Amino acid sequence: MFDALEPRAADPLLDVIRQFRADPRPNKLDLGVGVFQDEHGRTPVLRSVKKAERILLETQETKTYLGAEGDVEYARTLGALALGELAGDARTVALQAPGGTGALRLGAELIRLANPATQVWLGRPTWPNHEPIFSAVGLALCDYRHFDPATQAVCFDELMAAMRAARSGDVFALHASCHNPTGADFSLAQWREIARALSERRLIPFLDTAYQGFAHGLDEDMAGARLVLGEVPEALVAVSCSKNFGLYRERTGALFVRANDAAKAEAARTNLMGIARANYSMPPDHGAAIVRAILQDAGLRAEWQAEVADMRTKLRRLRESLAQLQINSLDLSRLADQNGMFATLPLTKGQIARLKDEHAIYVVPSGRVNIAGLMAADLDHFAAALRAVLIDAARETESRSIGAQKPCSVH
Ligand SMILES: Cc1ncc(COP(=O)(O)O)c(C=O)c1O
Repeated sequence: MFDALEPRAADPLLDVIRQFRADPRPNKLDLGVGVFQDEHGRTPVLRSVKKAERILLETQETKTYLGAEGDVEYARTLGALALGELAGDARTVALQAPGGTGALRLGAELIRLANPATQVWLGRPTWPNHEPIFSAVGLALCDYRHFDPATQAVCFDELMAAMRAARSGDVFALHASCHNPTGADFSLAQWREIARALSERRLIPFLDTAYQGFAHGLDEDMAGARLVLGEVPEALVAVSCSKNFGLYRERTGALFVRANDAAKAEAARTNLMGIARANYSMPPDHGAAIVRAILQDAGLRAEWQAEVADMRTKLRRLRESLAQLQINSLDLSRLADQNGMFATLPLTKGQIARLKDEHAIYVVPSGRVNIAGLMAADLDHFAAALRAVLIDAARETESRSIGAQKPCSVH
């Protein structure tokens, strides 16, 4: 049977990680991997998480099964953090999930079960796992352009055109904040238009929330998503605790589904439990227990909020410094208005290869840069390398790896 299997090409990101590890140059810079790094280049366990783990060690008395829903109290508490008041009404169901990825997959399977003809619309570029998650369950994908690397602007008109072209009942996967891989988020005014278009056209948002607190603040980062949720009758929200709690490998997340009424919400909940049961039976507990312990204790919660604020400040300062760099034809000024860990720069494949070969700077082939991978002391090295590889940009003959399309209107 396995004779029929062909090996799969390695994920380009894993390839970058492998090459980076093997590189002996002392000044090497990893701007590929998508994890937060502090000013020492580490991704440490948060202090609030360590404290919560100590409490769990002392107080947890059993590790018996919890059930397909996971810890209902955890999901309720995380729901209040992400969705605010909307989490509490009878139209909303919450299910613990194995990370944001698990939440997206649960939601994708629920959509397919509810209506296999649903089309899922993705704004390109998007997090590279969106496409495999939705297509793995057999849903048809459609796309539109979210971002133009050349102008660093959101292609808002193209989203609106996609919403006009979509069929009623189609799903739009939207990043709640800190868009991965571009950092280019919608303004509140644009979220208002999105909410209107979704409800007029009877479209369903699937809001992907992986960086709450990394842009402007915990509530501020969800303002657009909450606005949409307040307007539309049906919606899905995937929440990941990987980045803002630093719980990457603990696989901690949740899925929230808002249905037309309480009875439909209950139908969604029981179907989701069936989907979870057939996939992994029940989600892993440790990360969720940590998040619950933090959010339900005023002292730990305040400590965690301060740690999130520190991560946000680091990103904001780096963005402001990057925006001031003078790099030949490359205008980085808009990086200061964008959010979160990532930016997508209009670099050609040749320029990305030269950054690696000549300057030991590792960027994924799409041009995505993890800003959190930079320390203040690296900025000169990064700027000099960009200047060097862009100096003969005009002479480059190969087509651009990204940004070759016509520019979209600036918003
Ligand atoms: C936009 C987006 N959604 C979802 C996820 C999934 O996160 P998790 O590691 O919790 O599965 C990520 C992680 O990078 C992400 O960037």
